[in-house]
Amino acid sequence: MATAPAKLILCGEHAVVYGRPAIALPLADIRATATVAPSPAGRGPMIHAPDLGGRWHVAEQPTDPLSRLVITVIERFGLPADVEITIRSAIPIASGMGSGAAIATAIVRELLAYGGQTLPPAEISAIVYESERAYHGTPSGIDNTVVAFEQPIWFQRRPDQPPLIEPIVIGTPLTLVIGDTGVRSPTRLPVGAVRERWQADPARYEALFDQVAKLVVAARTALAEGDAVTLGRLLNTNHELLRDIGVSSAELDYLTTAARSAGALGAKLAGAGWGGVMLALTTSDQAPVIAAALQAAGATTTLVTTIAATG
Ligand code: MEV
Repeated sequence: MATAPAKLILCGEHAVVYGRPAIALPLADIRATATVAPSPAGRGPMIHAPDLGGRWHVAEQPTDPLSRLVITVIERFGLPADVEITIRSAIPIASGMGSGAAIATAIVRELLAYGGQTLPPAEISAIVYESERAYHGTPSGIDNTVVAFEQPIWFQRRPDQPPLIEPIVIGTPLTLVIGDTGVRSPTRLPVGAVRERWQADPARYEALFDQVAKLVVAARTALAEGDAVTLGRLLNTNHELLRDIGVSSAELDYLTTAARSAGALGAKLAGAGWGGVMLALTTSDQAPVIAAALQAAGATTTLVTTIAATG
């Protein structure tokens, strides 16, 4: 069995599509898994995804993004084709937590392991990126990267060269409370809408993305210094900028406000927006209070997670 974690964008989503830096975190205890078992000779690959509600023969649904991923990996690496791949995932789909990237990463790892091969994270990430493009249109690549590397990263696209990917320093452990709006919003929709708005008014959106970039740089310093108060303030600013960019929603605004009123150091939507999850930064003592406030404000699920200090 191979697994891969969920992810959260701590700050910088959307602007990261336009070459600004962003910080992403893996969530080690929320995972997708893939298991490969042999299937009858000559039948070809089958995918069985009980949590996604399906079982299908890859050859019969060749345009499905997961089918395409399986075909690509088996062909490219000469792997056994008579396999049944079972996928399970604890990551809510279309929630901003990287479910697609985690499922794809688990599948690639497991198909390779079944065929007696391994690949470094950067190569797995590149394969998953191709599959993410089928789902998301113009993804930056941050989701597949943080999921494949499984460590907190600084990510920035660069023209004519691979993205800059750096591990980031986390000075003191971070406690985050995640609140799910329960509204499912496929990443490609807000990403596509931002692209249209940016095309219509590039100066305005470039200026907003520059402001996001500035706070992401400051957030990196605050993380390294273990300065949760400053980090919280920056997360609030990021939420306001995401509102201006047009990817928040009534539910996301309501939950972030509720978290702050309950004493969170900062709160923002996390991921593509219009639905999905928000995150609140808090102290470990306050986390149950924030989670209760989010539930009272209508969060369908809350999760408390700790990001360990590095080094
Ligand atoms: C989605 O997790 C993050 C976005 O910035 C899209 C992307 O980077 O591809 C909204």
